Amino acid sequence: MTSLDSEKARVRVISLFQNESIQARTKKELEKHFPGRVDFLPLKSLQEAIDRIEQHPEKADLLMIEHESPSLILLKTLMEMMSQSVHFIITNQPALFEALLTRENAPEIIEISNFESSLYRALKKYSLLMKIPPLDSEDPEEYLPINIDTLRGLSPLQTDVYSKLGQDRFVCVFRTGHLLEETDLAKFILSKRTEFHVKKSEIKAVLAKRAQELEESAQKPGVSPEVMQKAFTSAHTLIRDVVPRMGFTAETQNIAKSCVNMTLKALGAKPKLSAIIDDLKKKEGDYIAAHSHMVGNVACALAHRIGWNSSATFFKLGLAGFLHDISVVKEEHARVHTLIESESSPFTKDELKLIRLHPVQCAEYSKQFSEIPSDVDIIIAQHHERPDGEGFPRKLAGKLISPLSALFIMAQDLVHEVFEHPETLSDDFFRANAEKYQVGQFKKIITLILNTTEESDA
Ligand SMILES: [Fe+2]
Ligand SMILES: [Fe+2]
Repeated sequence: MTSLDSEKARVRVISLFQNESIQARTKKELEKHFPGRVDFLPLKSLQEAIDRIEQHPEKADLLMIEHESPSLILLKTLMEMMSQSVHFIITNQPALFEALLTRENAPEIIEISNFESSLYRALKKYSLLMKIPPLDSEDPEEYLPINIDTLRGLSPLQTDVYSKLGQDRFVCVFRTGHLLEETDLAKFILSKRTEFHVKKSEIKAVLAKRAQELEESAQKPGVSPEVMQKAFTSAHTLIRDVVPRMGFTAETQNIAKSCVNMTLKALGAKPKLSAIIDDLKKKEGDYIAAHSHMVGNVACALAHRIGWNSSATFFKLGLAGFLHDISVVKEEHARVHTLIESESSPFTKDELKLIRLHPVQCAEYSKQFSEIPSDVDIIIAQHHERPDGEGFPRKLAGKLISPLSALFIMAQDLVHEVFEHPETLSDDFFRANAEKYQVGQFKKIITLILNTTEESDA
């Protein structure tokens, strides 16, 4: 069919639904994606469908079936009789239909729990394969949510910015090129509409430009701590919005690496723990970004102090700092430091699951990087394990925690303490807590820390 014909083509759907509400939702969705072009023929049972097709062979684009305990024999017969159609099975129990998935003309399983988006994805797929006519609707997943801090970091805007008005309804609120002022945002903050959207197709160019800007900053001498903190926060919030929905693309990998390079350049070859801790006390704004920045920096300063001062080690620790909490959305989740803290918290079961699994989730994201040192995902996966074996998610015995992970955990302990008690001095902290680090790699590191002073490495 020519593209002009296909744009006008009607969509013929033969359907078999037990559940009326699912049938109504399906009709509504089809009408949304093929407005005014759907011919919907509902049938009541597999046997009725088989009899009807036998007597009046029907041509249809789609065969859609929602039937809780189907006879697979009747279903296979109907599918064979309608082998020219695309077959969708809508179900809450996909396992019932597994036997059909190895067939040549295997049906597409649409799970009711994720109905609208999986139906859309399946329709889009078959329309791209030209097995059904093209869709008229816009991709509901084309709009990527970004939070207000990310938006602040994008000004002057390199893309149009939208606000969501209702299901799948977006209105452009700021145009490309706009220099965003706080007064622009006031009415959104007042009405608690602080989630904005950008189009995925447009964000790629924004990400590429941001990576380039960060790389240029990394090359410049003498970037001030304030400018760097701002750049780090804006890159970090952007990555936290984009990566969970788009994965680590080449552009987002470049942003993360450039941001780490910029941070390490500012840190220098001999990072001083006391200077970093002083800096940490002045931190404000997005907690997750500030915490990630500081954990990386403190880990590098500790590494330098104990003589693990190669640039490769600094890069691993800086990148682990950047990535270790990127799947965390809420500040209060990022503030949970130990399993005991999470157990005595008011979080729901789902929130606790997110908290406990974030090291695994973030390590998975880090594996999407090309050419990333392998230690990085180990540090991330282990960053909430504890020397006493009471960490999460694995309760790994202290002696099994890797050297760089142990160092990173100790850096995070110190950062956590300073966030909670700004008067903390790092040497006092390590002396007071030396006892709990007397295992495996922790023991080696704490001994080296306590046997050196900051002046000795100057
Ligand atoms: Fe963290
Ligand atoms: Fe964490």
